[in-house]
Amino acid sequence: MNAVTTIDRPVDTSRLRGFVTALADLIACTRDEQALLESGRTLLARLIARDDWLPPEYARPDPDPDRYQQYLLHCDSRERFSIVSFVWGPGQSTPIHDHGVWGLVGVLRGSEQVERFHRLPGGGLVAQGTDILREGEVDAVSPRIGDIHRVSNGRADAPSVSIHVYGANIGAVERATFAADGAPKSFISGYANRVIPNLWDRSRNA
Ligand code: FE2
Repeated sequence: MNAVTTIDRPVDTSRLRGFVTALADLIACTRDEQALLESGRTLLARLIARDDWLPPEYARPDPDPDRYQQYLLHCDSRERFSIVSFVWGPGQSTPIHDHGVWGLVGVLRGSEQVERFHRLPGGGLVAQGTDILREGEVDAVSPRIGDIHRVSNGRADAPSVSIHVYGANIGAVERATFAADGAPKSFISGYANRVIPNLWDRSRNA
């Protein structure tokens, strides 16, 4: 049995489908980044207010302590936005990285530690502070407001899961990780999954 057919408990993905539709409507109305972040934040907060819709196969941490997981849940047909679940097991964290596009991060389960950085014109990194993002809270990134950070699981004894929205097909975007001295290294993240959730089977609700 593969990971696609292994379902631990039934979930109702209609709320995620509604989120996809609402985001598409929003982006059809405006491409202004500030407006997208403000309205998108409200939509994402509504989605993560209840933890009853994410299929379990998209919430599984990788047992390798050095590898967090990044599952694509949906990509807009014109790649104007993508929705991703990030899963950190205990002790797991990202490298310091940027995004290159706007993004929203909402914690569905657990908590995350976010360390923010600013990159100087000469290339050095300056720490900007550390925040804890808790269940139900939403953070924003973009090159305009700051988008270099390192994210870690805020829980020592259980996985944490967050739902991210980006203004592109984020797994295909060329971006950078940074060494502690600010030296960049190009990367394209890709995704951990080969198949995405079927949000469009309405027969159960018919
Ligand atoms: Fe990030």
